[in-house]
Order: sequence, then structure tokens, then C-alpha cells
Amino acid sequence: MAQASGNPDVPSMGRRQFMNLLTFGAVTGTALGALYPVVKYFIPPSSGAAGGGVTAKDALGNDVSVSQFLGSHNAGDRVLAQGLKGDPTYLVVDQDKTLTNYGINAVCTHLGCVVPWNASENKFMCPCHGSQYNSEGKVVRGPAPLSLALAHATEVDDKVVFTPWTETDFRTGENPWWS
Ligand code: FES
Repeated sequence: MAQASGNPDVPSMGRRQFMNLLTFGAVTGTALGALYPVVKYFIPPSSGAAGGGVTAKDALGNDVSVSQFLGSHNAGDRVLAQGLKGDPTYLVVDQDKTLTNYGINAVCTHLGCVVPWNASENKFMCPCHGSQYNSEGKVVRGPAPLSLALAHATEVDDKVVFTPWTETDFRTGENPWWS
């Protein structure tokens, strides 16, 4: 008997989404992923705001244009872009329809699934084992042990530049676990 190509034991949405995002990371992340450590190595962090930073890319690998992005998204939206080290990172549209100055790393702190935004629940909800994070990425339900990582998101010439977040985590008042 021929087997169905999918594995019926795997939740299809979660697995498909995970695979899509893996592909997203693999395709668009290869060039930047290879370059990032090299660039970072040669640019000391004190050399300016863009030191160690990357420009946010969309799913096609193009730089995100802030004006176009804000023209096509609504207040409260959280939209995946490619961030530091190729990590999928949410851009956040604030209530005043500007981008927040932080991005939220979408990699679940439990076992690394990419966590989708659930607008109707106003939470990030991991399909793999049920962890939940509030609208700022602070963990509100395990098994994830930690909140989603942050990155600075700075608008420069209609682009978004992500840089490492090394300061206090404003959601917890603690040092960032990721830096
Ligand atoms: S990987 Fe997200 S809950 Fe396990």
C-alpha cells in the first residue's frame, strides 16, 4: 500500500509552518548568515549604531521598506522579518502606526520552534508544545523557560536596522539572557 506523503502523527499546521520558516531561514539566511560573523568581527560595537547590525529583510530577501511596510500593515500587527544571525524576528506596528524600536525574536525558548503571532488571542502561541508569550514576547506560559529575545529596531533611510539588545530587558527588569 502506498503511504500518504505526510506523517499523520505530526500536527500538520505546526509542522508545515515550521518547515516553511526553516526554508525561509535557509534561503534568505544563507548569504547574511555567512556574512554576519565576518562583518561583526571587523566592526567593533563602538563604531556606530549600525555596528553588528543587519537590515531587516522580508520573506523574499529584500530589504523591508518602512514606508511600504506601514502602508500595508495595521496597528498591532506583528510581522516576521529576517533579523540578527538570520533569526526570524517580528517587526511590531505600534498603536500610533509607527514601528516599535524593538523587534521580537520568534525562536521559542523551549526547543526552538518559530512561534506564530495569534492576533485574536493577542499572544505569541507556540504550536510545538504550547508555550505562550504576551504581545511583547514575555513568556506567560511554559514549558518555555524564558521570554523571547529582543533586538533593537532602528529606522535608517526607510530601512530597519536590527542591532543586538544588550541592555536591561524592559519586560522583566532583568539582564537579557541572550547576550
Ligand atoms: S518549542 Fe515552543 S513550546 Fe516547545
